[in-house]
Parts: sequence; C-alpha cells; structure tokens
Amino acid sequence: MKILAIESSCDETAAAVVENGRKVLSSIVASQVEEHRLYGGVVPEIASRRHAEAITPVVRRALSEAGVTLSGIGAIAVTYAPGLIGALLVGVNFAKGLSLSSGIPLVPTHHLRSHIASNYISNQELKPPFLCLVVSGGHSHIVMVEDYTKMKIIGQTRDDAAGEAFDKAARTMGMPYPGGIELDKVAESGNPKAFKLPRPVVHDAPYDFSFSGLKTAVINLIHNASQKGEELNKADVCASFRYAVVDCLTTNFLKAARDLNVSQLVIAGGVSANSLLRGTLADECKKRGYSFYMPDKGLCGDNAAMVGAQGYYEYLSGNTANSDLNAYATMSIEK
Ligand code: KG4
Ligand code: ZN
Repeated sequence: MKILAIESSCDETAAAVVENGRKVLSSIVASQVEEHRLYGGVVPEIASRRHAEAITPVVRRALSEAGVTLSGIGAIAVTYAPGLIGALLVGVNFAKGLSLSSGIPLVPTHHLRSHIASNYISNQELKPPFLCLVVSGGHSHIVMVEDYTKMKIIGQTRDDAAGEAFDKAARTMGMPYPGGIELDKVAESGNPKAFKLPRPVVHDAPYDFSFSGLKTAVINLIHNASQKGEELNKADVCASFRYAVVDCLTTNFLKAARDLNVSQLVIAGGVSANSLLRGTLADECKKRGYSFYMPDKGLCGDNAAMVGAQGYYEYLSGNTANSDLNAYATMSIEK
C-alpha cells in the first residue's frame, strides 16, 4: 500500500510517498532554515506562513516524482503532534481537505514515532521490540518500542533537549542556527578532554537527562574567557561539549539497555546525525554484542518519508481519524 505523507511540525514543509512502510518512492523537503537563521531560531509565525505557501507544490511534487496520482494512494498520513501549533495546523488541515475530497483514509502520526520509523527505511530488517534513544531539537527520550505502535518512555530530559543544548552552545560561539551540525563538524579537530564539563545526573531517575546545567557551564566558560580577553580554542570547546553531551546520552541509554535486558538498540531524531554519538554507540554495542541501528544521515532531520513509514503501521493498527482531527503542540509518544 502506498501512503502519501505530510510533515509540517517545525521549519520543513515535507511530503513523501512510501510503500508498505519501508520503500520511499519520493521524498520532498522544502526547508525554511535560511529565513529563520536571520533571527537565530525558528519564528513560529513565519514558519506557518511559509508552510501555507509551500504545501501544495511540495505535495504535488511528491506525487509526481513517485509517479502516482491520488487514485493510487491508500492512506494520507500527517504529523499532528507535537510541534509548533500553527505549523502543524497547516499540514493537518491540508491532509484533512485532501482526505475529505478524495475519500482516502486519514492517519494521524506522532512526530517522534515517525523519527523512530526512519529506521525502518534505513534498516529493512529492523523490527520491534527495541530500545530507542530519540534525540531531537525539542525532545530527548529513551523509549522502549514494544511494537510499532506501542511505546513506553523509560527516561527523558528534565529540562533542555540535547539538540537545544547543542544549538545554544553553538550560538554562544557565533555559529548560525541550527548550530548543532556545525558544532559537530568543528569538534572533529578539537580535544574532547581540553575542558572539564559537568555530567549532570538526575537523582532517583537513572535514565533521565538534564542538559541545562551543562549548557550553562559551557556558556559561562565562553563568557568568562571573553570578559578576561582570553581566546579559547573553539574546536576544543566544541569537542569538550560534544563529548559531555554524548557521554550523558550514551551512559543512560546503555544503562537502560542492560537493566531492561534489551540487546537491540536504535537511535533517531536530528541529533542522531551526530558523528560522535553514532561512533560511540556503534563501538559500545559491538563490545556488548548488541545489534545497533541508526537512520541514514539524510533521514535524521525532519522529513515526510519517516511519516509515511510510521503512518503505515498506524494504519495497520487501525489508527485513523476523520475531519474533526486537531493538531497538538504537546503529546506523549505513549498515546
Ligand atoms: O529532529 P530534528 O530535525 O527536529 C526536531 O524535531 O526538533 O532535530 C533538530 C536538532 C537541532 O537542534 C540540530 O542542531 C540537531 O538536531 N542536530 C545535530 C546534528 N544535526 C542536527 N546536533 C548535533 N550534531 C549533529 N550532527
Ligand atoms: Zn523532528
């Protein structure tokens, strides 16, 4: 079955056609990042306007590149939560209109579940159950994926998401939004042990994360040096910060895997493109005899192919909606 998928939760307007949850027939992503970069972050009102302008041509292109018309589409999957409410509403209303006028079933899809599903495209043999580290700009979760549509949160951040911490640290060093990607590149030539940064732990919640103290520590390090007129080695700061974030993520993730006796580990979300995170987990899983899966780098960020993958399994488990479907800024991945 071919699914037309639509994604508009943040600053990418995306549409894709995906067959049986695994085969991408087309994937179009129109990014607004250049415009938001002028403001140092996503401006929600601008995002909604740009989605409204882009959605029709993006969906048309996804259908034409896949070589299908609506008559060949079995379901329309759309991201309905979580995300920027005005941005989500553009995709949801477009999908509702298309579903109503064509009679094609509508499938509401959770954004973080879709990030996890990007792995079904990149790793054709992957099937639940597995433990997934979902790390994006807005969320940092350890999720037990019991089945395609049955998930349990094992740990989560108490404050900032990992991606948010990367972006704030990068911004303090003058890197353009979203700085996580550039910070990762600059870190490659630095010494990860040059600066000692904290590894915050959450007491009584061994799998939860806290990144705000770590973020403040690196910002203070940079500001204190600049007040004293000292020049810090940027690559060393980036490498030390990246090492600290990845250390916190991997420590808790591997602890959860051991305690829950899970040997199939997966990563997902924008931050899963991070080279140190990918390399560290690949090594650690190999040492422990675990299977380790990650999305192709091109599927880590927001896209609609992953929505088409998750949408397929949501459809199979009967998760369809009608024209009273709403969008939600927040929603647990467990729902
Ligand atoms: O999943 P995503 O595209 O959007 C959300 O759903 O939030 O994640 C975006 C986040 C941004 O914070 C971005 O800086 C971060 O992913 N990111 C990275 C890397 N590539 C993207 N962070 C660290 N290293 C990277 N290579
Ligand atoms: Zn995302």
